[in-house]
Amino acid sequence: MKPLLIALALILAAPLPAHAHPSQPRDLRELAQRHGIKIGSAVDVAALRAEADYRKVLNREFNHVTAENAMKWESVEPQRGVYTWADADAVVENARRNRQQVRGHTLLWHNQLPAWLTSGVADGSIGAAELRSILRDHITTQVGRYKGKIRAWDVVNEVVEEDGTLRRSIWLTHLGPGYIADAFRWAHRADPRAKLFINDYNLEWNQPKIETTLSIVKDLQAEGVPIHGVGFQGHLGIQYDYPGDWANVMRRFADLGLEIAITELDVRMVLPVTPDKLATQADYYRRALTDCVSVRACEEMTLWGYTDRHSWVPGWFEGEGSACVMDENLAPKPAYHALLTVPRQRR
Ligand code: XIL
Repeated sequence: MKPLLIALALILAAPLPAHAHPSQPRDLRELAQRHGIKIGSAVDVAALRAEADYRKVLNREFNHVTAENAMKWESVEPQRGVYTWADADAVVENARRNRQQVRGHTLLWHNQLPAWLTSGVADGSIGAAELRSILRDHITTQVGRYKGKIRAWDVVNEVVEEDGTLRRSIWLTHLGPGYIADAFRWAHRADPRAKLFINDYNLEWNQPKIETTLSIVKDLQAEGVPIHGVGFQGHLGIQYDYPGDWANVMRRFADLGLEIAITELDVRMVLPVTPDKLATQADYYRRALTDCVSVRACEEMTLWGYTDRHSWVPGWFEGEGSACVMDENLAPKPAYHALLTVPRQRR
């Protein structure tokens, strides 16, 4: 054997020095790095401004963020033609200072639309042609404002019903199904480098929704419409089975060439909290990350808030809560520790 090869053989045979053993990551940033993915959180802008501890933990733990509400249409244009960017800007600026990439959420949805828009459509003062140009202007303006600063946009959010039909929103009703392709084309024109996503809930397991979303993607691709990813919101609850087929569902979208993201992960429970429920919750979080890292195309896992101090769950699901990985005092729960144990996968 050549001396070089002998040396190499010796090096490979020798036990690793202690510090080189794959040890557990210390926090979520290290975890993200270990897996080569982004780990994000939704950001509550009021808390970001007012709570130093919230800000500190957010910026320590996460390398990706999504504005929880600040980029929604009602937030950025509460009155027609009057734009209020301060909150959205604050999220983007804080992210830049803390080396976090940003998911833009969301350009087109049926909820949290400004009242001037919904009432104008309802009373007929905004007709179909005008609605279409309002939507185009909205997408062009918002995407343009953050050009180069948003890694990925949730272009359309929740456009499929549970039964697999297209959601009967003002968009479908007044513009027809072509609004989806239009939204992606307009967004792409405004920032050609941003990754453009279709995002939905229950897409982890709901078969009709999965099939329809897959066919929307295929149709868009066949027409040459720029679509780059699919977002699984991932609003789970331990009173339901874990969506055990999730990784396979991810793979079906990945096979179409899409990037995969878990965009709004949380795992709620019926209160009161018990140690058993926290252990089950920890397992759901662990499985979600495991599913993501088992699919090469899954590049981001974002939590819909990281602390129970600021979670949408108690306000939206009666009698439920404790859905996040840290408690009200920002103390890590079993779910946090469970995430850190997920082994690296060869992808
Ligand atoms: C929620 C926010 O968390 C709440 O603060 C707000 O009152 C309502 O919207 N799917 C989505 C998110 O895409 O935008 C929603 O966020 C949660 C469900």
